[in-house]
Amino acid sequence: MDPQEFRAQAHKMVDFIADYYRDVESLPVRSQVTPGYLRSSLPSNAPEEPQSFDTVLDDVKSMIVPGVTHWQNPNFFGFFPSNSSTAGMLGEFLSGGFNVDGSEWATSPAATELEMLVLNWLGKLLNLPDEFLFNRSGNGGGVIHASASEAVLVALLAARGRAISENKAKGLEEQEILSKLLVYTSDQTHPCLHKACVIVGLPKSNLVILPTLATDDYALSLPILKSAVRNGVTKGFIPFFLGATVGTTSSSAIDPLPALADIAKEYGMWFHVDAAYAGNACICPEFRHFLNGVENAHSFNLSANKWLLTNIDCSILWLKRYEFLNLLFFIYTISFQLKTSSIQSRVVNFKDWQVAQGRRFRQLWFVMRLYGALGLRNHIRTHINHAKHFEILVREDSRFEILAPCRFGLVCFRLKPSVKHEDNGWKLNSSLLEAINSGGKIFMTHTVLSGVYTLRMSIGGTQTKRENVDDAWKIIQEEAQNLLDQEII
Ligand SMILES: Cc1ncc(COP(=O)(O)O)c(C=O)c1O
Repeated sequence: MDPQEFRAQAHKMVDFIADYYRDVESLPVRSQVTPGYLRSSLPSNAPEEPQSFDTVLDDVKSMIVPGVTHWQNPNFFGFFPSNSSTAGMLGEFLSGGFNVDGSEWATSPAATELEMLVLNWLGKLLNLPDEFLFNRSGNGGGVIHASASEAVLVALLAARGRAISENKAKGLEEQEILSKLLVYTSDQTHPCLHKACVIVGLPKSNLVILPTLATDDYALSLPILKSAVRNGVTKGFIPFFLGATVGTTSSSAIDPLPALADIAKEYGMWFHVDAAYAGNACICPEFRHFLNGVENAHSFNLSANKWLLTNIDCSILWLKRYEFLNLLFFIYTISFQLKTSSIQSRVVNFKDWQVAQGRRFRQLWFVMRLYGALGLRNHIRTHINHAKHFEILVREDSRFEILAPCRFGLVCFRLKPSVKHEDNGWKLNSSLLEAINSGGKIFMTHTVLSGVYTLRMSIGGTQTKRENVDDAWKIIQEEAQNLLDQEII
């Protein structure tokens, strides 16, 4: 494409996306296709000859759109949100345009320096301690990863690096250290920590998953943790990583960070806080207290692409001391050529902070500038107000019950079972969810809390309004009544 043709095609693409956002509410939220639907519609080999942009765009409309679950539909209430913004999209567009590989400072200085600056901006909005920020004197800073899972993996690797060097200094051999390392976390922690342990090569039994209770609102229990850590030490193991969550995936539970930080300190463990979803809310002063205690963590992650109007992918990891990563990941590339120069000591090479070598510009700078902190806070507050409103609606209907505290945009609830529901309402509520989702007007997901099938209403769509929440509640009530009526018949 020459510049003129690119301009024309890009305009068509922008028109398509603008129309998509205008009309997305009329599309079924959950894709209605069956597995393999695309195989019969598209050729199994790549085209030999180039095809026109219009042909491809037509196929997008007729074949791809039906297979999309529309996360940007204002009636999408599943999982945690993945809200996008036009600001983010424009930034992504430019990133694609530049298409630089900012793996090192030297390979594209603006990519590295902008990321450092913007993560300091966000860190300050979150009121993170200075140690997490890039500054002349410290060793801390943030880095953007593709996913929270990667951020957690990298935190675990940094912790492992630290544990190895500390224990080697005590005279232990590396193999012995590795076999003794223990990770502690709760059963509400996202399975990405489990995955990270597998990748790191930690034996399954060295990941200690502690049970949580409904009476603790599914937060990590301090007595249970303390006794598990003591038990590990008594048996000669080395507790080295404590993983806490602010806003668990199931029910947005909050682990007691200040007390956990104390325990981590007492036993010399690396303390990591995963706030992938709920951390975003903490840019609002009234919700910042949920992060209290993070100042004593070694690392902290948050996914702006979940709730901060930043398109996938933008998961941020802040570390107080990144030298553990540099030690692990440093490889000799262009930065080696700069090693002896005065530049090297003054630059950050993000390739040493992540699994991949290559990396691109992300869009957070656009989002933060085009919304401003006020716009971002309003966005969060709107969803939390909608969720509070929904919670009241549920509480007002005696057929339903709330199953966990609603602190952010997530409401956990269910249709109350009666004595005749011998499975404690599992079938009743799973049938209700299927009835709700198959209608196509709204989409929700579920979790299991203390063995109880739980519906999750997760409110966080960029375009979601109060009316969408009210309409969703009517659909839920109607479907619930249909099910109850069928049971009587
Ligand atoms: C608290 C928490 N941590 C980690 C993750 C994993 O996120 P990702 O899909 O970005 O790896 C999730 C996903 O929902 C999450 O809720």
